[in-house]
Amino acid sequence: MTVCSYVVLCASSTLRCCKSFQNRSFHTSPELLHCWNRTHLDVFHSLLLVKPFTRQRYRLSRPMSSPRTIFGGERSYKCCTTTEEEQNKVQQLSLSSKNESFKDWTTRDSTKVRIKTILEQGETMLDKNVTIQGWIRSIRDQKKFAFLVVNDGSCLSGLQVFVENTVQSYEKVKSLLTGSSVSVRGKLVHSIGKGQLFELQAKEVLIFGDCDASYPLQKKRHSFEYLRKIAHLRPRTNTFGAVMRVRSMLAFATHCFFQENGFVYIHSPIITSSDCEGAGEMFRVLTEPTENSKYSQGEGAKDFFGVPTFLTVSGQLSAEAYSCALRDVYTFGPAFRAEYSHTTRHLSEFWMVEPEMAFANLQDDMTNAESYVKFVIQYILEKCKGDIDFFDRFIESGLTSKLYKYVEKPFARISYSEAVDILKKSGKSFQFPVSWGEDLATEHERYLAEEYFGHPVFVYNYPAAIKAFYMRNNDHDSGKTVAAMDLLVPRIGELIGGSEREDRLDVLEQKLHELGLEAENYWWYLDLRRFGSVPHAGYGLGFERLVQFVTGMENIRDVIPFPRFPGSAEF
Ligand code: 4AD
Ligand code: MG
Repeated sequence: MTVCSYVVLCASSTLRCCKSFQNRSFHTSPELLHCWNRTHLDVFHSLLLVKPFTRQRYRLSRPMSSPRTIFGGERSYKCCTTTEEEQNKVQQLSLSSKNESFKDWTTRDSTKVRIKTILEQGETMLDKNVTIQGWIRSIRDQKKFAFLVVNDGSCLSGLQVFVENTVQSYEKVKSLLTGSSVSVRGKLVHSIGKGQLFELQAKEVLIFGDCDASYPLQKKRHSFEYLRKIAHLRPRTNTFGAVMRVRSMLAFATHCFFQENGFVYIHSPIITSSDCEGAGEMFRVLTEPTENSKYSQGEGAKDFFGVPTFLTVSGQLSAEAYSCALRDVYTFGPAFRAEYSHTTRHLSEFWMVEPEMAFANLQDDMTNAESYVKFVIQYILEKCKGDIDFFDRFIESGLTSKLYKYVEKPFARISYSEAVDILKKSGKSFQFPVSWGEDLATEHERYLAEEYFGHPVFVYNYPAAIKAFYMRNNDHDSGKTVAAMDLLVPRIGELIGGSEREDRLDVLEQKLHELGLEAENYWWYLDLRRFGSVPHAGYGLGFERLVQFVTGMENIRDVIPFPRFPGSAEF
């Protein structure tokens, strides 16, 4: 591997997460650098790589945008300590790296390219020789030539391929059916047909895998219920491709937000001996002995770890331990709940984002949650425009303008008592009665967010009796309520649940006792209050509910690759 040095430059305050790269030189191979180019340059617009290492440092003057306008504002920058000649060089290098960036740098075949890249690059791609690879969405045989539409999952659009009968594999190609996988090498030319700038004039078509007429995804609309039964093939449909691209980008944006704000990513354990929510809805972990296993049949059913263990319901307790050392941390991983819920908002296995902040109170908690949700929505609006337009057209009409509104307007904040008053005065006949002390049902949550505010709303200070043991008792009403908050959003209801944590040892011990929870099982958690206790707060965001919120998808089972819910774990 050839190792060269590169200088990495960026306008740091335009995008603070680039700060650590600013004005530093790196040793890297050209291959690696181009990977960077594709991932980072694409995301961090103002990042500039200068190659080869010239011993000159290019410094950037203050960028011309405020830190807030991460996506919307001016993205240009100015070199200030370089000569004009140097500046021109920087500009030229940046342009040449742009021209080269159509290539797929994950491979040594320099003509291989994703369809998304071709469409994004526009006119500059005309007359270029490229190789695309994907699955045939449709095929039209016109005797002397055939048209294929190939989709490679990189974006919604497929690319039209024009195959003349002079192409060697023509006879085989024209008999291919929807779903077959191919590699096409050819030249990008102007498309005569409507809708697309390009088509690919094939010089060579390689067939990887053909497909017969029993392929379950024919070119027609399939219901989501049907697609759940073929969960291994549904990512090949437009909707599921788009959902998974948005989901992936939401995960990336989540890391960007927390990393940029100085949070440390903690990998909390998946197997745990403590029940974070104290609700007992957990999956037990036991060994499965085989004939050769160390355990005999009887022993095998024992607990491998010497204590009863479960799949985690939340990474919060681990996050608290690390927050009481590293200050601001977050976890992002799977959580498991053995609830017999068949709703469109519950899964048995889901992903949760759980920030935990030391020296923070409930107001800080809500402020961070609001900034995070707004950041990721804004990110998706910028980065997944094609997919969001698709959801707006086919899944939830008006989605884009709603998302813009959520970003622009502050989220409402009301106390639980105010929420109860609003619900009582609503004149609605709810299925579940509304009274102070009862938990809010989904219908109540949705009324508040969807109808009353038409906007995300925080509800805070819930009755202590209906919330988890770790939430801090409020002083102003002698612990009748806790400093907890839920973020309720239109269509979904609860997206986030969080609280200030009970940081007083005696109060926490008393709460465990009142709830009949064994203090010994929480000994290390109590230690955090025994040794250098600090006020701290955090929250958990249900990642699938976030994907639903941003895409308009109705059922939570359709926003995770392979959903787990009672009675279903086939894939
Ligand atoms: O409100 P929950 O139960 O809070 C906790 O687990 C806290 N320990 C989080 C914390 O403070 N660190 O769950 C948090 C969020 C909910 O608001 C909801 O969005 C999601 O997780 N959630 C589920 N999502 C899908 N399926 C389920 N069964 C879910 N249960 C909770
Ligand atoms: Mg909750």
